[in-house]
Amino acid sequence: MLKVLVLVSGGGTNLQAIIDAVRENKITNTQLIGVISNNKSAYALTRAEENGIPAYCISPKSFETRAAFNEAFLAKVNELQPDLIVLAGFLVVIPPEMIRTYAGRIINIHPSLIPAFCGTGFYGLKVHEKALERGVKVAGATVHFVDEGTDTGPIILQKPVMVEQGDTPEVLQRRVMEQAEWQILPQAIDLIANGKVKLEDGKAVIME
Ligand code: GAR
Repeated sequence: MLKVLVLVSGGGTNLQAIIDAVRENKITNTQLIGVISNNKSAYALTRAEENGIPAYCISPKSFETRAAFNEAFLAKVNELQPDLIVLAGFLVVIPPEMIRTYAGRIINIHPSLIPAFCGTGFYGLKVHEKALERGVKVAGATVHFVDEGTDTGPIILQKPVMVEQGDTPEVLQRRVMEQAEWQILPQAIDLIANGKVKLEDGKAVIME
């Protein structure tokens, strides 16, 4: 069983998609061992509790320095001993030491087709605002491994979503979630849990 820890900051619709996929056996060989949020009022924590998954809050605001937060955060993660860490709308920078400790074992969902609309400052609704400002016709989402850069790690899965006339950032965000994120994030976890993703020359290769 792959022991999966999910990190969240907000509403947790991606977390919900993972919980549902485990329940429906679309993700196999996987146990959800915990959810950590940096934000105590994140609805994602309620979703975890309602589904019997241990939920924790650890916030940079409770620590005097970033270094102290990073240390406590890594200690909590280590205590839970996850095989895979899933960033599902987690908006805190992952401490470099955590990235080194869990190299190849952290994945992230990003609401664009990387390398478009990614990197520092591109998160949540902002990604869709920028995409509409640019007038793109195709949006989408990406699941990738996390390395020390921002949205630079090996890409596991991507899915395109069409932009429609009159889209607002909110409407586009919802369509990208429904048609792409809630599908490819559970799918990536299932592939990893079943040993179907390998890293080769810095790229993620899917073995069917
Ligand atoms: C999702 O759209 C996710 O792709 C995005 O935050 C949202 C979280 O929603 N993540 C990023 O922008 C990361 N750079 P959720 O809490 O409802 O899953």
